Amino acid sequence: MSHLIAPSVLSADFGNLQRDIELINNSDADWFHIDIMDGCFVPNISFGFPVLKAIQKHAKKPLDVHLMIVDPDRYTQLFKDAGADTLTVHLEACTHLHRSIQNIKNAGMKAGVALNPHTSVMLLEDVIADIDLVCIMSVNPGFGGQKFIENTYAKVTALKKLITEKKSKALIEIDGGVDLLNYKKLVACGADVLVAGNTVFGSANPTQTITQLKQL
Ligand code: DX5
Ligand code: ZN
Repeated sequence: MSHLIAPSVLSADFGNLQRDIELINNSDADWFHIDIMDGCFVPNISFGFPVLKAIQKHAKKPLDVHLMIVDPDRYTQLFKDAGADTLTVHLEACTHLHRSIQNIKNAGMKAGVALNPHTSVMLLEDVIADIDLVCIMSVNPGFGGQKFIENTYAKVTALKKLITEKKSKALIEIDGGVDLLNYKKLVACGADVLVAGNTVFGSANPTQTITQLKQL
């Protein structure tokens, strides 16, 4: 499988949201990456269900929903109802991570687990066979447009090894600071999905930038 590109809607123009969703629909992008922030797990608030439903109404590609919220189990079914295809929770926000993963799968979604930059990939050893996606945060979550953390490459390599050893089918997603200079090295280390916000929507030609990010 060639790597996937998931533009982050957080960097879209919210005054022209439908236009930017159509832009992604008509591009080489594979998924929509949607960041939900609660102002508690992370020091920022993004948007909630009304906006997510508006996105879903126009989006013609899978919705990859990244929850940066405390107690995500409370909202599993609501995110399913709002159209999430993959629902990713933070390991750091889940006391009973195994249960959270089962809840997501039982609701009919793919289950992802996100790791903050300080969290070792080895903490996934006992659940890696159960999950569909690991989101490695390559910035501290909360904001778009931050600088990529270089230690991410080593984490991707270690996670790839763990996935192979445990015969897991989990995809490795990289989220934060992905750009035209680092994306090839990330794919070479084993990344399957690249999230890109500022690199896409901050560029002069977002459609062309998405195409560039697909090329190796
Ligand atoms: C950060 C979010 C990211 C963010 C990425 O907390 O999880 O998805 O939108 O944005 P860029 O690509 O600009 O770093
Ligand atoms: Zn994200």
